[in-house]
Amino acid sequence: YSTVKKLFQSRHEKYVDRTNKVTVVGVGQVGMATIFALLTQNVSNNIVMVDTNEKKMKGEAMDLQHASSFLYNGNANIDFCTDYTKTKDSSVCVIAAGVRQEVGEDRLSLVERNVEELKGIVPKLVKHSPRTIIIIASNPVDVLTYVTWKLSGLQKNRVIGSGTNLDSGRFRYLLSRKLNIAPFSCHAYIIGEHGDSCVPVWSSVNIAGVRLQDVNKNIGKDGDDENWKETHTQVVQSAYTIIKLKGYTSWAIGLSISQIVKAVLTNSTRVHAVTTCVQGEHGVADEVFLSLPCVLGRSGVQDIIRQPLSHSERNLFHKSAAIMTDIQCRLQL
Ligand code: NAD
Ligand code: LAC
Repeated sequence: YSTVKKLFQSRHEKYVDRTNKVTVVGVGQVGMATIFALLTQNVSNNIVMVDTNEKKMKGEAMDLQHASSFLYNGNANIDFCTDYTKTKDSSVCVIAAGVRQEVGEDRLSLVERNVEELKGIVPKLVKHSPRTIIIIASNPVDVLTYVTWKLSGLQKNRVIGSGTNLDSGRFRYLLSRKLNIAPFSCHAYIIGEHGDSCVPVWSSVNIAGVRLQDVNKNIGKDGDDENWKETHTQVVQSAYTIIKLKGYTSWAIGLSISQIVKAVLTNSTRVHAVTTCVQGEHGVADEVFLSLPCVLGRSGVQDIIRQPLSHSERNLFHKSAAIMTDIQCRLQL
């Protein structure tokens, strides 16, 4: 526009920051909660949406673009496409596409349908961003992380599942209510499957370095008359309860993914329980993907923390692994 030419004495061509570009595939409840968290928490101001439902996606994009002037960095780039071309050179790609559970349905029953969706998504993402880091949220997230890794040809460290970062958050919240301190100050991990077989690591739950098992040796066990074990049951039931109440889960997973993306983009070396290949860890022999506490950075999963487990925690972790092996054997990739 001539007005623009008259207004500015241009000194240099516009700098486009591509280092924080995040693509989100699937802009349903989870995808949109993730994008909202990424933008409002200032994790990225460069978002590309991909969805098969172009009409809905365009509506979501416009709605968010109109929010730009309310964002801390008001010059956000919020774009969308169905053919993946605009996803080129994304630093991180989040996959939140596919079907979700109906009331009472478990996550594992979604596997065949969502594997088929991944076959159409992953090769296109990698074609346009061969050095990206993929974060999978779609369920069953652990199996789908394995499938994404297989389909992508990327190094294992570059394919991460949102895993039990969410379950650990739920666990910390429930502990925080019992202890009357902030969830942030409850150091507690859930590992294994993001789902019914997830494993609470009671042996290392601590507040300021004080292990709860040193205060109450039965904590988390059957013999505990205070029934702290119930906290884990509530974690497992969380998604079923929320789905019964509102039809889907969105806010907590959106913030959880945003936290994982931030850890990667800022090369933070923060520790989060995320899904990664656990072959060789805690005696797991098979090439299965489950959550363990991991150090996250610009290369994705930089390290797995060798967390000591009690005998029963290790057995439960093996049960999660056996469930994954069984499903993976039946997959046709
Ligand atoms: P949703 O139905 O609201 O949204 C799914 C979106 O994916 C839709 O917009 C749909 O058009 C799109 N889509 C489907 N196939 C696609 C394809 N091939 N390419 C691009 N887009 C496609 O569902 P939701 O509630 O957002 O849940 C999405 C997924 O996330 C489900 O699998 C759900 O189980 C999972 N989820 C995971 C967690 C977790 O903790 N990992 C938490 C909540 C939900
Ligand atoms: C969750 C989803 C449904 O919120 O996996 O746990």
